[in-house]
Amino acid sequence: MSNVPTYENVKIERDGATTFVILNRPEKRNAMSPALHIDMCNALDWVSEDDDTRVVVVTGAGGHFCAGQDLKLFFRANENDPKAMRKAGADSQAWRWDKLSRCPKPTIAMVHGYCFGGGFTPVIACDFAIAADDATFGLSEVNWGIIPGGLVAWCVTQIMNYRDALYYSVTGERFSGKEAAAMKFVNKSVPVAELRDAVLALARNLEAKNPLTVRYTKEAIRSVRGFNQTQALDYLDAKIDGLKFNDKSKGSSEAMKQFLDEKTFKPGLGEYKR
Ligand code: COA
Repeated sequence: MSNVPTYENVKIERDGATTFVILNRPEKRNAMSPALHIDMCNALDWVSEDDDTRVVVVTGAGGHFCAGQDLKLFFRANENDPKAMRKAGADSQAWRWDKLSRCPKPTIAMVHGYCFGGGFTPVIACDFAIAADDATFGLSEVNWGIIPGGLVAWCVTQIMNYRDALYYSVTGERFSGKEAAAMKFVNKSVPVAELRDAVLALARNLEAKNPLTVRYTKEAIRSVRGFNQTQALDYLDAKIDGLKFNDKSKGSSEAMKQFLDEKTFKPGLGEYKR
């Protein structure tokens, strides 16, 4: 198993084939500084290509997910330096949306404690999100005189009901992990003491599946949202061909053999034997 890299603002931990990528500024509630954005870009590049990682979990150290952009180091320090601001903004965008939403491995946001403002973007970019019942979410930008920029407003409209997106953005009202689950902002919420186990249960399920099928499936679901029917059909046909071509284990043929010839598994009830 390869060694995990170290970063100043991000911690990497393995649990089986699942790798935790942890925002690590607990004394600042994991507020995102420009340096943390660079570390997260590097960490996600690494984990995306790490052969020993099948599932990626993004979370925060010290019992909190993320207090949003660092008001001091991201905003105030760059107020009069447009070049530095552009660079920090680009790095921030790169990992929170581009790298996470295009990660070739399944991604799970594990949310506990506070999740504010810019912290919403990685939660939404991940394929799955599980929160502690008592986690606190808030689009707090309006409380201090800015709008949910840096793509946050766009992200929330991708996942929230339209009324909720407007309500929580404009009022800044907080909602709990339990409420987030009820509105399907996260897949589910559990008591905080059970959060890691709930995340690992999902991760183990994903680890057991054919990784290429998982990857192609998530890419397909993400892509077809923006397509019309004709484009979707054409794209999905090509995607199926791509999967068949690239899956050196010939997973679908093997599964068909096990179901039709050997009668040793039922696709409706679980995974074929790999
Ligand atoms: N930017 C910069 N620093 C932040 C921060 C942020 N977004 N969030 C927390 N911190 C810092 C605090 O300034 C404090 O630093 P200090 O110890 O040097 O004084 C430290 O983190 C701990 O925060 P504190 O406010 O004392 O902890 P708390 O548990 O009482 O409250 C929050 C936590 C998250 C509710 C509160 O810090 C807060 O409202 N943060 C801003 C959240 C926000 O609106 N984010 C959106 C930005 S777009």
